Amino acid sequence: MKAAAVRAKHLPKHPPCAMVIFGASGDLTSRMLIPALDRLSQEHALPEGFFVVGVARTPMTDSIFRESMAEAVRIFAPETPVSKELLSNLHYVTGEFTSPATFKMLAKVLAKQRAARGGGPENHVFYLATPPDLDPLIVEQLGKAGLASEKDGTFSRVVVEKPFGHDLTSAQQLNADIRRFFQEQQIYRIDHYLGKETVQNIFVLRFANGVFEPLWNRQYIDNVQIAVAECLGVGHRAGYYESAGVVRDMFQNHLLQLLSLMAMEEPARFDAVSVRGEKVKVLRSIRPIDPARIDESAVRGQYGPGVVEGEKVPGYRSEPGVSKKSATPTYAAVKFLIDNWRWAGVPFYLRSGKSLAKRTTEIAIEFRDVPHMFFQEARSEKFERNVLRLKIQPDEGISLKILAKIPGGGMHATPVTMDFSYAQLGGAAHGAYERLLLDVMHGDATLFTRGDEVEEAWQVISPILQAWEKTAPKSFPNYSAGTWGPEESDRFMERDGRRWRKL
Ligand code: BG6
Repeated sequence: MKAAAVRAKHLPKHPPCAMVIFGASGDLTSRMLIPALDRLSQEHALPEGFFVVGVARTPMTDSIFRESMAEAVRIFAPETPVSKELLSNLHYVTGEFTSPATFKMLAKVLAKQRAARGGGPENHVFYLATPPDLDPLIVEQLGKAGLASEKDGTFSRVVVEKPFGHDLTSAQQLNADIRRFFQEQQIYRIDHYLGKETVQNIFVLRFANGVFEPLWNRQYIDNVQIAVAECLGVGHRAGYYESAGVVRDMFQNHLLQLLSLMAMEEPARFDAVSVRGEKVKVLRSIRPIDPARIDESAVRGQYGPGVVEGEKVPGYRSEPGVSKKSATPTYAAVKFLIDNWRWAGVPFYLRSGKSLAKRTTEIAIEFRDVPHMFFQEARSEKFERNVLRLKIQPDEGISLKILAKIPGGGMHATPVTMDFSYAQLGGAAHGAYERLLLDVMHGDATLFTRGDEVEEAWQVISPILQAWEKTAPKSFPNYSAGTWGPEESDRFMERDGRRWRKL
């Protein structure tokens, strides 16, 4: 069965609703949101009477907005035709996010378009595709315009993009600001990694298969490695990235989410309360890193010029908008220890960087060596450990490395892999946003981050930020673009008697 057909079969029925996108003239709307809605529209997965109202400062009419969104689909989702149905349901309001007049106009357009579709409940999803400093202002205006309240069984939900705050204090403040007008169950904090099929498959792998659970602990696992490698540099995002850096950009959210899914206990149910409750417990169990001894737990790096996939690329400090003396890390490797019964003593090594040799995201579980190995004459120099690799992207799949006897005389062993490729199931073809947008409309927050979870994640990375912001890096840039990061990162692993897995 084709992926789209499989998905259509499993789609729940969604109640009618309107989606309001703040920041409708921006990058996220064109690159992600509209292409995702377009694909959903092609699959008839959007609710009856669905429409979108884009809000932004750039003056546009409905028809100009439609034209520019049609162009966005052609550029960013060239494989899908532009959905005429979606286009005819796009509307636009020009206005300042701080002005009550914008919100009055928005309420009017919402009412008018709902009436044009035969009435129906006042269900709203408000998507903040805006710079984070505008979030509290927009939320306040929504509250004051009466758009945040849920009356007579209707819903009003707000979707908040990352970065969620800049540090623990600002994340707490942002939570408090939003909660003045929306209750926690109305708030959907997006981490697009949770929308990826292969990330959701971690739940199925762990909790729908009996064979792994008995092994999923410190008795059998030596270490877990989580790598999110990117081959692109910072591009034109220096304005944001210079003050964010890799730890805020990737660790606070995506990498810690992956760690939580790998380490969590079985939730009582697959629902928002149970799943998020278990993830929060993991974050709380992570041993706090001592900023004074940061070098024992983490390595930072910044890329210099180099060659990525055959092309010469500039170093980070030569990217547009980046300071020539920038101390912003574009690479980090961190060792986390989880102080609980399941994981005591098992290091979780996390690494991520920009301008690395290739784009790949992978989780590898290295199992312990066998207690006694009597096959001395192995072909490989050293018997390799069993490794379970979850290939998140690209080439989505799972592979288990085991040793097998080489046919013929004697007893020689060699590593072989048992592979599952997602292509066998029709491919992990869906973008993360499609799944997440549908979940918001359906009111399922399981794959969104809860307020306390975001704060715990900031708590975990705060010591790293503190330590690195206090002391300047000694030798930036310390890795060439197109490599696997700083050499120091390899030494960091060697000190533990281990090696990074080859990606
Ligand atoms: C974003 C980061 O959240 O995730 C980017 O801000 C990064 O810097 C991106 O490139 C990576 O996402 P993906 O889905 O391409 O792995």
